[in-house]
Amino acid sequence: QRIVVIGGGENAEYDVSLATATAVAKALRSSGFDVDELTIDRDGIWRRGADALGSQAIGSLAAALGVIERADVVFPAVHGPSGEDGTLAALCALTHTPMVGSGLRAGALGMDKWATKLVAEALGIRTAPGRLVAASEIADVEFEKVAVVKPVSAGSSFGVALARDASELHDALRSAARFDDRILVEDVVPGREIDVAVLREADGRRWASPPLEIHTTGLFDTRSKYDGSARFGVPADIGDRDRSALTGAALRMFDALGCAGVARIDFFLTDHGPVLNEVNTMPGMTAESQVPRMFAAAGLSYEQLVARLVDAATV
Ligand code: DAL
Ligand code: MG
Repeated sequence: QRIVVIGGGENAEYDVSLATATAVAKALRSSGFDVDELTIDRDGIWRRGADALGSQAIGSLAAALGVIERADVVFPAVHGPSGEDGTLAALCALTHTPMVGSGLRAGALGMDKWATKLVAEALGIRTAPGRLVAASEIADVEFEKVAVVKPVSAGSSFGVALARDASELHDALRSAARFDDRILVEDVVPGREIDVAVLREADGRRWASPPLEIHTTGLFDTRSKYDGSARFGVPADIGDRDRSALTGAALRMFDALGCAGVARIDFFLTDHGPVLNEVNTMPGMTAESQVPRMFAAAGLSYEQLVARLVDAATV
């Protein structure tokens, strides 16, 4: 089978997406797949391997479509806006190409932290109380209490900051506004950070991985996500009741958004049960990332996980 892995992307998570794509491509090659690697540069130019496919975004995309045309399956390993948000799913849908992972709707909903929150609340799954602020209105936002400020649509914690007073709040709003024109100001949720991954197999059955706990000294922010200082505990050391509340909520979110492939659903585990943080429809997928670590704890190797995702590709 010929697989086209797409990495990079026009957003702040470019490097993270490249790391995912490189690891996925390597795993697929070692499982015997014929792999082609496309990269979307920060300026929208598509590359095949090291070669730019044109000098303009549109011409390079037209050339990339010639590569995609010969693919049996596309693996869009692009995190963040203009990738994970349904953009690449739409490209695959328009070209009738089977792809790994969630379609346009789930990608768009999962990338939008406000929409995700509304879906969760409708299902009775708690989320952090928060308000939505337009970037054009940040000068008028008043400090009420310590809050977490984040762009509605971004990933890897880019643009996320803790605001402990009015001055930090305005700095945080300004930096979040560099990533999105909608910003969330949320209450801080005191709890343990626990992730659950859900995998949908080729036969349509989906199941939840063992939960993973993230141990950090401070915020699990962009720096601690990638500087190696965070430690993962998997399976998380939690009781049966918390485990079933977390996995039940993860499966319900996966189903409600209509996810496919694999999604990582992130929670805070409080004294009163799980509070949903967010849903990632194309989660980080190097061998050391949370999702592969969670499935390894369920007996699935990295290569097996990636190959199963290809088997479960949908048109
Ligand atoms: N957005 C990053 C890649 C993650 O969810 O793992
Ligand atoms: Mg995310």
